[in-house]
Amino acid sequence: MADRFAIILAAGKGTRMKSPRPKVLHEIGGRSMLAWSVALANELGCRRSVVVVGPDMPQLSGAAAKLVGAENVVVQREQLGTANAVDAARQALSGADGEAIVLYADTPLIPAEAGERAFAELGKGASVCVLGFEARLPNRYGRLVTTGDGALEAIVEANDASEEQLQIALANSGVMAAPVKLMFELLAEVKNDNAKGEFYLTDLVALARCRGLKAGVALCEERDVQGVNSQAELAQVERVFQDGVRERMMVTGVTIPAPETVFFSHDTKIAAGVTIEPNVVFATGVSVESGAVIRAFSHLEGAKVGAGALVGPYARLRPGAVIGKDAHIGNFVEVKNVTVGEGAKANHLSYLGDGDVGAGANIGAGTIFCNYDGFFKYRTVVGEGAFVGSNSSLVAPVTIGAGGYVGSGSTVTENVPADALAIARGRQANKDGWAKAFRAEKSAAKKSGNKPEGAL
Ligand code: UD1
Ligand code: MG
Repeated sequence: MADRFAIILAAGKGTRMKSPRPKVLHEIGGRSMLAWSVALANELGCRRSVVVVGPDMPQLSGAAAKLVGAENVVVQREQLGTANAVDAARQALSGADGEAIVLYADTPLIPAEAGERAFAELGKGASVCVLGFEARLPNRYGRLVTTGDGALEAIVEANDASEEQLQIALANSGVMAAPVKLMFELLAEVKNDNAKGEFYLTDLVALARCRGLKAGVALCEERDVQGVNSQAELAQVERVFQDGVRERMMVTGVTIPAPETVFFSHDTKIAAGVTIEPNVVFATGVSVESGAVIRAFSHLEGAKVGAGALVGPYARLRPGAVIGKDAHIGNFVEVKNVTVGEGAKANHLSYLGDGDVGAGANIGAGTIFCNYDGFFKYRTVVGEGAFVGSNSSLVAPVTIGAGGYVGSGSTVTENVPADALAIARGRQANKDGWAKAFRAEKSAAKKSGNKPEGAL
């Protein structure tokens, strides 16, 4: 197979986003649109991806350099059109031999199969191939003019199209594949004598045809090549992404009674046999093993949930939460950077941050791991089978030994030995008859109008 290269266009200003953030750094499924394009290039096996940015876009250049390496970030000085944008990668790819694919960084959901189909056309004799689709409303798209046998004759931009050409529903997605050397040769021939006065990448098709070379079209779905120009379109593309994942999850055996209320990230991993109740959000980095139930209104990020575990309703799992097999994390429990052992339970109203909970341990309602002193964070270790009574504060660093027992309402500041009982609270004193006498005294004072000093 020929070496593959990607040229990712990201120089657009994205003014219609009305956002201080560069357009292609907005996220779909928890991953920036730029990172989606780079991920696609990687899936296609591209050796290198060159990202074309505009001048004065330090935030974007920085993000691009992190993804593809600073040497693969190039600047298009002036926005002179898509051909000019691709041409900005000429120097960076001067030594490259193989096939290139042009991607728009504001079109994040192109499936790898579609890219493969575009490359496959090159293998079948086409010198240039574009990804096309049947547009519901083709108005602003470039039209693909084909011959009777389906070969691509030319691409006509809407502004330059005749009435007849405007009737064509087959539209250009913007994705184009061609041998690298040929692409840059043809780019040098592109002129800007068109309605917009821009250098059109799409002219490569006619230029190739002039040389007697063949051009082809690979087809894809319109929803796969939906671009983002505004916040509303960002939300639309997010919806397309979410609907796609929901569908795939259900096909692979995940039970989701209200899929439209559950939100996933690009990297969410859910095993078959998991149930996800309504209104659950999976931020990035979550995996859930078979038989687990994620109950309603839970939010998970950077967390692993083991087989058969029960999470929520209203649970929050933060990065580093590792919930063991059959463990229970109940309502209003927040877990961050804590490994919860097999079968352990924290069922109500707790904060477990930075530590370990051993297998079979029970964390009572209202338990807090006091992990932070305002400067540093410390670990709390609760041993296997330990029992922490309700409303306890475990002041880290601290260890409750295996099988240890903490009396309710304790503030534990010292380690508790295995199988010991720790009680760290005021002792209870009962005073017989005190309440009755108190009420008698106060009601008499109230009747006589004798207010105690300071009473309102
Ligand atoms: C382009 C295609 C059109 C296709 C449509 C699909 C051309 C001439 N036309 O039109 O056939 O149907 O996309 O959406 O290619 N960009 C730069 N530098 C530039 C100009 C553009 O980086 O100088 C980037 C933009 O940021 C954008 C992409 O290239 O991500 C496409 O540019 P845009 O101006 O949106 O092209 P369209 O007119 O939509
Ligand atoms: Mg566009």
